[in-house]
Amino acid sequence: MCGIVGYVGDKNAFPVLIKGLYRLEYRGYDSAGVALLNEKGELNVYKKKGKVSELDAYCRDKDISGNIGIAHTRWATHGEPNDINAHPHLSQNKKLAIIHNGIIENYSSLKEGLKKRGHQFLSETDTEVLVHLIEDIQHHDKLSLENAVIAALNQVVGAYAIVIIDKENPDTLIVAKKSSPMVIGIGKNEYVIASDASPIIEYTRNVVYLDDETVAVIKKGEDIKIVNLKDRKEITPYIEELTLELEAIEKGGYEHFMLKEIFEQPKSVKDSMRGRINASEGKVFLGGIKDYEDTLAKAKRIIIVGCGTSYHAGLIGEYLLEDFTRIPVEVEYGSEFRYRNPIIYPDDVVIAISQSGETADTLAAIEIAKQKGATVLGICNVVGSSIARATHAGSYTHAGPEIGVASTKAFTAQVTVLTLMALHIAQLKKSLPVNRFRSLLYELEAIPQKIEQVLESDKYIQEIANIYKDAKNFLYLGRGFGYPIALEGALKLKEISYIHAEGYPAAEMKHGPIALIDENMPVVFLANKGPNYEKVLSNIQEVKARKGKIIAIVTAGDKHVKQFADHLIEIPETDEALSPLISVIPLQLLAYHIAVLRGCNVDQPRNLAKSVTVE
Ligand code: G6P
Repeated sequence: MCGIVGYVGDKNAFPVLIKGLYRLEYRGYDSAGVALLNEKGELNVYKKKGKVSELDAYCRDKDISGNIGIAHTRWATHGEPNDINAHPHLSQNKKLAIIHNGIIENYSSLKEGLKKRGHQFLSETDTEVLVHLIEDIQHHDKLSLENAVIAALNQVVGAYAIVIIDKENPDTLIVAKKSSPMVIGIGKNEYVIASDASPIIEYTRNVVYLDDETVAVIKKGEDIKIVNLKDRKEITPYIEELTLELEAIEKGGYEHFMLKEIFEQPKSVKDSMRGRINASEGKVFLGGIKDYEDTLAKAKRIIIVGCGTSYHAGLIGEYLLEDFTRIPVEVEYGSEFRYRNPIIYPDDVVIAISQSGETADTLAAIEIAKQKGATVLGICNVVGSSIARATHAGSYTHAGPEIGVASTKAFTAQVTVLTLMALHIAQLKKSLPVNRFRSLLYELEAIPQKIEQVLESDKYIQEIANIYKDAKNFLYLGRGFGYPIALEGALKLKEISYIHAEGYPAAEMKHGPIALIDENMPVVFLANKGPNYEKVLSNIQEVKARKGKIIAIVTAGDKHVKQFADHLIEIPETDEALSPLISVIPLQLLAYHIAVLRGCNVDQPRNLAKSVTVE
């Protein structure tokens, strides 16, 4: 949710900043801006509504010189996306420029106070208020910029990652963060600061992940100085080495990141399992949660929290955990959980699922669970992310960077880790018959190969997409493990193609959605083999009787669905509990091709952002 980049060093700042913005564009893409301090001491600010490419083009004939600068790509919270509301924002005296990711919740009361003291605001943003507040404190209390930033942030309620550039300190950036990510890359005589490591990796592998409620002074030629906001004590920076590879954040010949990520799934699922499963020895082991094995085995209840696609992975986790371990499981949206005074006991285990590890509602849910004494485990993709650090322990999904806004490989990696977790607990509790346990391990090891087989249907799925690309609505129906996949399939389609789509438990269709069915309604059924197969078959016939168009995901060799379906997409046979890992793949491809055929920007769908750091 908003991407920020800062640079100070020997290079021209603009190319580093703009390249960084392109890499961070998944975080927001409704407007972008840059502020550069040139050798003459002039602070040039350029802002443009729209994507980073529009800012890039706009800047081409401008003065973009300078070895220090800040840049921002926005996902609007306060104030519509336009040139004025785009960041950076300037102080009243035009000496300070700020970029911000997050929300200043008490901005309107701060703004009132500042207006009374003569401040005039150009934009509707909370961010502009913050930079005016810093300036106001700096001048009123005669403080250095660093101390004025600390004093201002101590008045602020909300979340922020900010970078400030100051006309009067031409080689210094001031950085601060609370509940929004911020990484500082330490290069040779240069610093690159960003919301994640992707803009940094070309310049250095040495990074500091800034802690919450700290302020860093980044001065060219000097070591980083980090100060705690509350007690103002200096903190020694902890320098870590990045393991991210440049190829992982590039498209590698694919037309879109989303397609690349869909096709990466045989590998990413394998990576999620690597070193954690050995079918021939009959073992599952998750190193990250080894200190909590006892807690897990004795847990009276497991609560899973997540948002969006991660919530859907959580629903599959519920079915897996209850089936394999017999521990009752509840699944909650982070946003609901945090505001309804949930009942949590100290012997509950809360599992937070998040690709980015930054989702504000999931993070808040974790804090509540911790306050109430529960053990909180994380399943995150981004190493070192806020959720990974806020949880007591956890297992990374190791899917590699996911850049397409619609989550694909992160989802299958989350489901893989949940499967491993459920099997691990089952192993500890001896809650699964040995034969089933063993066969699940073998089946799980075979999943990457089966995903590979499903991916071979890509061309065929594209043909189906071409038939239905102009549909106004879609229904996705499934039972058992097919139900969360129906939800996920519908979410994928609406996210990237803007076609209205609903996922429903197939049996619930009779209680409402059946009224929508006519010859114009495509209905996607999860009709692969499993205990609910016959029931799904009946639902398919009910749709057929009302002239709905049926696209069915079936197990290879299926003879029955064929009689009623308009299109069959075959997937290899597996244990029903593992079927989500392969049945979701054709739905990802279907959504992808429909969106491409409709001319949509699949990697950056309108209004969405990859990492939602606001509530
Ligand atoms: C956003 C993204 C979704 C994602 C959700 C939760 O809405 O666009 O793809 O599923 O946030 O994100 P998380 O990083 O917590 O998994």
